[in-house]
This record gives sequence, structure tokens and C-alpha cells, in this order.
Amino acid sequence: MTPTEKRKKEHIDLCLEKDVSSSITTGFEDVQIAHNALPSISKNSIDTSCEFLGKILSAPIIITAMTGGTPEAETINKNLAAAAEELGLALGLGSERAAMQDKALWKTYDVRGVAPNIPLIANLGLVQFVKEYGLKQAKEAVEKIKADALAIHLNALQESVQPEGDTDFTNSLTHIKTICHDLGKPTIIKETGAGISREVATKLAGAGAHAIDVSGAGGTSFSQIELYRGGTTAGAFRSWGVPTACSVAEVARAVKIPVIASGGIRTGVDAAKAIALGAKYAGIALPLLGPAKESKEAVIKALKAIIDEFRTAMFLMDASKVAEIRTKDVIITGKTAEWMAIRGLKPELYANRASMASLQHKVQKDLYG
Ligand code: FNR
Repeated sequence: MTPTEKRKKEHIDLCLEKDVSSSITTGFEDVQIAHNALPSISKNSIDTSCEFLGKILSAPIIITAMTGGTPEAETINKNLAAAAEELGLALGLGSERAAMQDKALWKTYDVRGVAPNIPLIANLGLVQFVKEYGLKQAKEAVEKIKADALAIHLNALQESVQPEGDTDFTNSLTHIKTICHDLGKPTIIKETGAGISREVATKLAGAGAHAIDVSGAGGTSFSQIELYRGGTTAGAFRSWGVPTACSVAEVARAVKIPVIASGGIRTGVDAAKAIALGAKYAGIALPLLGPAKESKEAVIKALKAIIDEFRTAMFLMDASKVAEIRTKDVIITGKTAEWMAIRGLKPELYANRASMASLQHKVQKDLYG
């Protein structure tokens, strides 16, 4: 077993056995979509579908990158893929570095056979591009698993606190630029649980990123995972990062490319709140790991509950289509409102965007440019 394979296995085991959550919250507890006690639509007629990477999803839900490279990971990936195919959702595979090191491991990522129709997202870490990879490896990561896009993950926090981490990010944006322009497939830039600020989002969009997955703080914490693995400084960073709700608000306001909200999305209500703050899609990782170890059916059950919650949230805000969610009044209080106000994001505008019908156009313009 290579060190990468060993680390992948440890990550899965720790995530299944221990509390790996961040010590701060996502901020979604501060976000309330105005309840509509008088819906004008039938819940069953609500259209939760949307487009992603040229394909239609039954709901704006993406299973985000987790694993690959071990026999256990192969089972997990196949169960996630088969469930995503049956439900019409998108799937991100875990970092393909293990297969780059040992070609025999490609099969642990290759799920196209069980998921012929859904968007699949390949995955590599930015720091590997700084160190050794180029366009060749980026293309290989996509082609080997017949993916529709490549996600490049940013994990400066994790690399800093893990015993064997790579921490040279010199000229990192240049590598992103090259991949985004020359890969020939969409490139999604994602964090891994510490969030993305509007300043970084602006740089990423300027470099040609096709979408940004904020993967904010409040869900899975890699500093906590690395603390269990013996990273002596990891504990101090369990509360580090941009909370997911704040990150979505910052990034959606700053860039015009699609924003994926992930990091602590645990219910369909969280997903609806994230979309109300400006995200186009919601991403979920850890809650699906246990079910995926068990069976395809267990993943389907977990996802169906989330989609049902999402549909109910749409019903209770009287939204018949996903895009309408972003026009509803959202009341933001507490630390999330404070964060937004300090960053000049005017939380009061979200609270009045639907109800101030005569100002609708202006408010939308203020929020989304
Ligand atoms: C991850 N994540 C991740 N991200 C990535 O881009 N490449 C990867 O290889 C992995 N590996 C990985 C393994 C495991 C076991 C977990 C739980 C997560 C990060 C993941 O995609 C996501 O951004 C964060 O986990 C936050 O979402 P949740 O878990 O709070 O829903």
C-alpha cells in the first residue's frame, strides 16, 4: 500500500468512526427563508430539476469528492455512482492522485459503467500541479474515468496540518489558469472545508474557472481529521475558515460563474438556504459516506430524504422552480448578518427582495450585478 492509499483509508475510517465536524457552524442557522403560509402551487408539481455540465439533474444536488484508491473506496464510489444515476444527480470522485501513482488503482474511480448518464467530476489537488503535474495529468484524470469536468481542490489548511503535507503553493494561480484554458473540459475549483472568500473567488473566476465550490467551514473539518492522525498543530484550526453561508454570500455576489454550496449541507433546507443566498447547486459529502459503505439503496434513501426536504422547503416559500428560490425574502441574523455587514454585503437587501415588489429590479441588480 502506498502512503497515499494508506492516508485515504485512514480518512475514510476516521470519518466513519469519529466526530470530524468543525467546531464552528455553517451559519445556515442564522438564515431563514420567509415562510409562506399561503402557497399558490401544488407541492407535487414543483420542478426541482436544473442543468449542470450540459445534463439535467433531478435536483441541484452534487455528491462532492470523497475517495478512491482502495478496495473499500471502489465499493463506496460504485454505490454513490449507482445511486446518483438512479436519482439523476451529479457525482464528484475523490482525488485521483493514488491512481496517478499506481495505475492498477484506476478501477477504483471508474464508475462510468454504473453511471452512464450523469455528470461525473474528476479530482486532483492544486498542490500536485505546483509540485509535478501539468496538463497531461489533468487530461488523464478526466479521460480515464470519462468525466464531464475536473475539480481542482484547494487544501492549504489540510496540507499545513498533516504530518506529510505539501505546503509550497508558489504561483498556484498560474497553474489554475493553464488548466482552465487548455483542458478542453470545464474546471471547477473547490475548497475542502475551509471556504472561499470573495477575493479568492474573483481571482479564480479571472483565471477562467467555470464554477466554484466554496466547501465552507461548518461541516467536515480536515484539521480535526488530521488531529486524529497525529498532526500536532491541527487542533488549533478546527474553527478556522469562512463559514459556508458567509462564503456562499461572498462568492455569489463577487462572481458570475456558478457557485456550488458545500461544507455542512446536511438537509434539503440547508440546500434551499444556500441557493437563496445565491448558490446554483448544493454539495454533500460526509453524510453519504456511511450509507455508501453499506449499499446503493442506503445512499438512495439518504438522498431521497434530502430531496424531499428540498421540495418541501420550495413549497413553503411558494417556489415552483429552482431559480425562483433566489428571488425569495431571506432574513439573515446573528453572526452571519454581522459577517455580511462587515464585508459590505447588506443582509437587509436579502430580507426585502421579494416583498418590495416595486424595488425588485433594483434589489436584484444590487445583489447580483
Ligand atoms: C473529502 N473531501 C475531498 N475533497 C476533494 O476535493 N478531494 C478529495 O479527495 C476529498 N476527500 C475527502 C474524503 C472524505 C472522507 C471526506 C469526508 C471529504 C472534501 C469534500 O469534498 C467536501 O468538500 C467537504 O467534506 C465538506 O463537505 P461535507 O463533508 O461537510 O458535506
